[in-house]
Amino acid sequence: MSRIAYVNGRYLPKRAAMVNVEDRGLQFGDAVYEVVTVQDGRFVDEDLHLDRLERSLREIRIPMPMAREALRRVLAEVVRRNRIRHGLCYLQVTRGVAPRDHVFPKKPVPPGLMVTAKPLPGYPEDVEAWAATAILYPDLRWDRRDIKSTNLLPNVLAKQAAREAGAVEAILYDAATGLVTEGASTSFWIVDAAGVLRTRHLSHAILPGCTRAALMEELHAAGIPWQEEPFSVEETKRAQEAFITSATSYVRPIVAIDGAPVGMGKVGPVTRRLFDLFARHVKGDVRNAA
Ligand code: PDD
Repeated sequence: MSRIAYVNGRYLPKRAAMVNVEDRGLQFGDAVYEVVTVQDGRFVDEDLHLDRLERSLREIRIPMPMAREALRRVLAEVVRRNRIRHGLCYLQVTRGVAPRDHVFPKKPVPPGLMVTAKPLPGYPEDVEAWAATAILYPDLRWDRRDIKSTNLLPNVLAKQAAREAGAVEAILYDAATGLVTEGASTSFWIVDAAGVLRTRHLSHAILPGCTRAALMEELHAAGIPWQEEPFSVEETKRAQEAFITSATSYVRPIVAIDGAPVGMGKVGPVTRRLFDLFARHVKGDVRNAA
């Protein structure tokens, strides 16, 4: 089946869906994006993703390409036209098309909008099979990682290093301080040596993960305590458990880092519980029906 993409007002077969060579997203990475999971034909945490999109755009002074309700309809239409039951929807907003010049176009141009979707397996059945391994890798990114920019070169290099090491994710750390920031495309959590569930606090140093936020709501509702506090590479190595969260990773156990086991080297009780808790969140999330 040919896939359908939305590009600047039109739904087109993917091979015919193209952007202008002068699009600033292509020329400068002058663009932001979102990835929203689809489960049983419904968007998961759609509002959180649209809130973050609006924030990212505001921070770099690109207007919303259309009203939020209209954008919702475009996302739903791309999912519908691609007949996605479980999968993901990708959207990117660029500053638009203008002759190449670093400064913003003098005469405002309409932002570019592209939306694609692809099928993926639904929420994993088995947490053991979902467990993954990671490497440690220096965080080479800029100082505004809270903006979901399409400038992903450091993330690409980190992820490739992970792949070449036979791992799934790269856990990034600040080489100056030795503190962990997050995964190359995920938020990172540990159960530390003292048994405390921890993830780094929000700041310009990390992306405010929507899955992170949704999981925190579930933790709160379930009365499970956690701390938002940075931790070091050393503390990570001594952790009892570790896991990553993202729209497409959900809650994914990390059982080895740089070839060394995390804790017992298998899925721990806290991660298992949160995996189950989040399954209910994803499967039962009817608030954001597509
Ligand atoms: N990545 N940190 C980074 C650097 C990310 O790129 C992502 C998401 C996350 C988790 O955010 P969320 O829970 O909202 O998915 C954290 C997406 C999935 C991607 O780049 O494909």
